[in-house]
Amino acid sequence: MMPLVLGIESSCDETGVGIVRGTQLLANTVSSSMAEHVRFGGVIPEIASRAHLDAIVPTLNEALATAGVGLADIDAIAVTAGPGLAGALMVGVCAAKALALATGKPLYAVNHLVAHVGVGLLDSALGNRLPENLGALLVSGGHTEILRVRSLTEDVELLGATIDDAAGEAFDKIARILGLAYPGGPAIDRLARSGNPAAVAFPRGLTAPKYLGSREAPGPHRYDFSFSGLKTAVARRVEQDEAAGTEIPTADIAASFQEAVLDVVTAKAVLACQEQGIGTLLLGGGVAANSRLRELLAERTAAAGIELLVPATSLCTDNGAMVAALGAQLVQRGVQPSGLGFAPDSSL
Ligand code: KG4
Ligand code: ZN
Repeated sequence: MMPLVLGIESSCDETGVGIVRGTQLLANTVSSSMAEHVRFGGVIPEIASRAHLDAIVPTLNEALATAGVGLADIDAIAVTAGPGLAGALMVGVCAAKALALATGKPLYAVNHLVAHVGVGLLDSALGNRLPENLGALLVSGGHTEILRVRSLTEDVELLGATIDDAAGEAFDKIARILGLAYPGGPAIDRLARSGNPAAVAFPRGLTAPKYLGSREAPGPHRYDFSFSGLKTAVARRVEQDEAAGTEIPTADIAASFQEAVLDVVTAKAVLACQEQGIGTLLLGGGVAANSRLRELLAERTAAAGIELLVPATSLCTDNGAMVAALGAQLVQRGVQPSGLGFAPDSSL
């Protein structure tokens, strides 16, 4: 019998509890405090922590009811130990420790980024094994990374990452400049569909030869990203247009900005796959909901002969099922539980 695992996620603004049986998804209940952060234009850690405290027990109860199981049926508990907001992580970790203590079930502290990858196994055609030579492209409000995943239990290597803003953060900041509601990713995605992505040639961060180098002599940032220069360029363009009274349509700015982000994200992910012998690429994170990202990445991976795995959007954004999915893998591989002594680590 595959292990029944309960996973708890609280690293940012989503309180998530998921329940899986091996790779079968039984429940994925998420409560978000996003509405409370909207007027600040960003996630306020203190508010997020308090919201987790309010939401954790109702979310847990709802997940158990959805899965039709009781706490006594659970074989193991997994919880996000980091990276994330320290105070937010503490709520999930404390709840998980309390459950483990009360039920006597083993507790596993898991890495949030690896959980974004592990979720690819849920209800997928992959069976119980991730493909060999797997890569992952994680794009959200908090992270933008290319990973090589040799094994979920011990071997995940960071190939490239953003050196400043995360991609989702860039979407949110530009949306603000364009007068769109926070979080701005979905708004830009929608608006960009009626805009011209070639209207403005915005800069592509870290694509100059001195950063890229060559395959034989890689530059210092061959697989890395930078979006802060792009943000400045868009802000300046909007200011200049306003001053000159020659405003181009907001949809064109949105489409051109989005294309500049996604052109680099998809090109570098494919480059890393080709050069590192990665045959299958898994997409994760909140920005994975973006329609143009899905389209462009599908085109470019297909052209390069790389298989693309895109989990359902509800599994790409932060959730407890991904934590439970990784926990189930750890149980099945006989990994030692973490015990009750560990502390959350915001920079894990
Ligand atoms: O993974 P997530 O729910 O939370 C973390 O940041 O960890 O990702 C949220 C981010 C936000 O920055 C949001 O603007 C972005 O994902 N996002 C999108 C879209 N939907 C959400 N960005 C671009 N296009 C979208 N359709
Ligand atoms: Zn995440």
